[in-house]
Amino acid sequence: MKKKYYLTTPIYYVNDIPHIGHAYTTVAADVLARYKRMLGYDTLFLTGTDEHGQKVEKSALISGETPQIFTDRIVKRFKDLWLRLNISYDDFIRTTEERHKKAVTDLFLKIKANGDIYKGEYEDWYCIPCESFFTDLQLKEGKCPDCNRTVEKLKEESYFFRMSKYQGQILAHIETNPDFIQPESKRNEIISFIKSGLKDLSISRTSFKWGIPVPGDDRHIIYVWFDALTNYLTAAGFPDDKGRLETCWPADVHIIGKDILRFHAVYWPTFLLSAGIPLPRMVFSHGWWTIEGQKMSKSKGNVVDPLQVVERFGVDPFRYFLLRDVPFGLDGDFSEEAMITRHNTDLANDLGNLLSRTLTMIERYRGGRIPPQINSKDRDIEIGLRSVENFRLVIEGRLDKFQFHLLLGDIWYFINLANRAIEVAAPWKEKEDAILSNFLYVLAETLRIIALYLYPFMPSTANKIHHALGLKEITDKTPLLEEGRWGMIRPDTAISKGEALFPRIEKEKKISSQTPVPPVALPQSEKITIEDFAKIDLRVGLIKSAERVKGSEKLIKLMVDLGTEERQVLAGIGTRYAPEELPGKRVIVVCNLEPRKMMGMESQGMLLAAGGKTVEGLATFIDDIAPGTKVK
Ligand code: MSP
Repeated sequence: MKKKYYLTTPIYYVNDIPHIGHAYTTVAADVLARYKRMLGYDTLFLTGTDEHGQKVEKSALISGETPQIFTDRIVKRFKDLWLRLNISYDDFIRTTEERHKKAVTDLFLKIKANGDIYKGEYEDWYCIPCESFFTDLQLKEGKCPDCNRTVEKLKEESYFFRMSKYQGQILAHIETNPDFIQPESKRNEIISFIKSGLKDLSISRTSFKWGIPVPGDDRHIIYVWFDALTNYLTAAGFPDDKGRLETCWPADVHIIGKDILRFHAVYWPTFLLSAGIPLPRMVFSHGWWTIEGQKMSKSKGNVVDPLQVVERFGVDPFRYFLLRDVPFGLDGDFSEEAMITRHNTDLANDLGNLLSRTLTMIERYRGGRIPPQINSKDRDIEIGLRSVENFRLVIEGRLDKFQFHLLLGDIWYFINLANRAIEVAAPWKEKEDAILSNFLYVLAETLRIIALYLYPFMPSTANKIHHALGLKEITDKTPLLEEGRWGMIRPDTAISKGEALFPRIEKEKKISSQTPVPPVALPQSEKITIEDFAKIDLRVGLIKSAERVKGSEKLIKLMVDLGTEERQVLAGIGTRYAPEELPGKRVIVVCNLEPRKMMGMESQGMLLAAGGKTVEGLATFIDDIAPGTKVK
């Protein structure tokens, strides 16, 4: 039977659209999964979405949808992105699925049956407008971190998990299993956190409804982290599919970002200890991306949309960049410049050129067919390149340590060696037929093997190389160790020189969520008459004041002067504009729209803006037109 390898990404919150941080973990997991499959493992690569909780409930309310409709819509964005980025997940879990609700309820009951859940009172800082509790640490200068209002101490009935009981056990586990938390620095952080004392954990809330109820007491909703973490067990067949559970659990690795390490390295294992379920083998915590030196945030408008990056640079260069530029585990900085540099040097100059030079020479000197290998003629140069064969033996070691950047570094060593070999051997000057044939064979074979190793990082590029060399397609089923042996490319194979792998990219416009991608063609929309259009009462409005709607990231409350009256308009532009930027701006207001209530306030109109689901910019005027003037 094949060995099992179970790896997971975090399940992503649906109150956010996918960004570079989500793409990072998922691409890394994809690379690992593909390598493992090629190394003969049967993988369970799990990703998914975290759909319950107060924030999702609120976001749905703001967009005027039920939480289920809202989550269905956002989940699609994640799935579409994974398709675009060539992510080969084996299972996609949503916490709103029945199988998951069952698993969470069951785990809760198991822990309760062991005497580790009790009812008590949860006391913390509460922000009334935001309807949220915050800990001391979460407060910003003693105020609500979301709306900056004063908070008060409040008590709420809650179920508690006896986490304190497991302090000794979890510490002992971490100390006797050095690989349980990686990298090392993160392991030390967690050890000191546990040593400072574990408190019992509140695992239910009564302040919202969107979630899984506590069995037998549905006034309480199970804490979102208890719910979310259990997804890893759900996908492994818990609680009913014993056979699957036996082969899949424990998970080999949970890959996560450093901000959610404590949940995975302390909360999760203590739940499992209580339920008598084996612990995952490893939790690997990666670093965070900043954007051009700045923290990524919606208010700064610098959130990097992976779709826009791949639109400009391509899928494989993006996947390559994410794992090449920064050691997995450390923080990194994303910038257009860094991306272009990697693209032009590593991909276009090194890899792209190696392929194109090799193919050109085979075309020119050997009529487009791979020449035979004449081993007796091997020189030092060829011997160096042939050692690419041994590389397959070090891959698993690198993978176990999550050294993606070194793995790529190893591959590039051979790419650079081959490029240098061409310069040194100067085949265009070679007079002896056998020497030239041998050299061209060695180059082609080196490229074949390099493509094989590159496949998990850059699946389509690897296959373009194989296609050009007249070879069969690489898939996750291609056995890496076997196919990585030297000498498998058959002489006389016809090559086909296609287009350049990576055309050079010149520096130009910035990538940010403010740079929309123009559609290829306008979609066909239903025609309306001029009378239909005239029904819409559009007018010039002058923004008098603007403030954020408490508890909402998106909504801004505006007072707009329409010449003869002033109206209150709630606009979903809070992720694009800060309120201070708006007073004095002239905008286009739809004046005869039915008033609508949002977050308990009435909106008496709508502003025209560019963009789809995210606002790219408000429509304004070049001239200072009087408020109330008709727009047509
Ligand atoms: N839903 C929880 C996870 C539950 S897992 C049982 C969650 N979701 S999240 O959508 O907010 O974040 C998911 C992942 O994205 C985290 O691992 C986080 O570290 C990662 N990132 C968010 N911003 C990031 C960067 N700027 N850079 C790298 N990763 C980042 O947390």
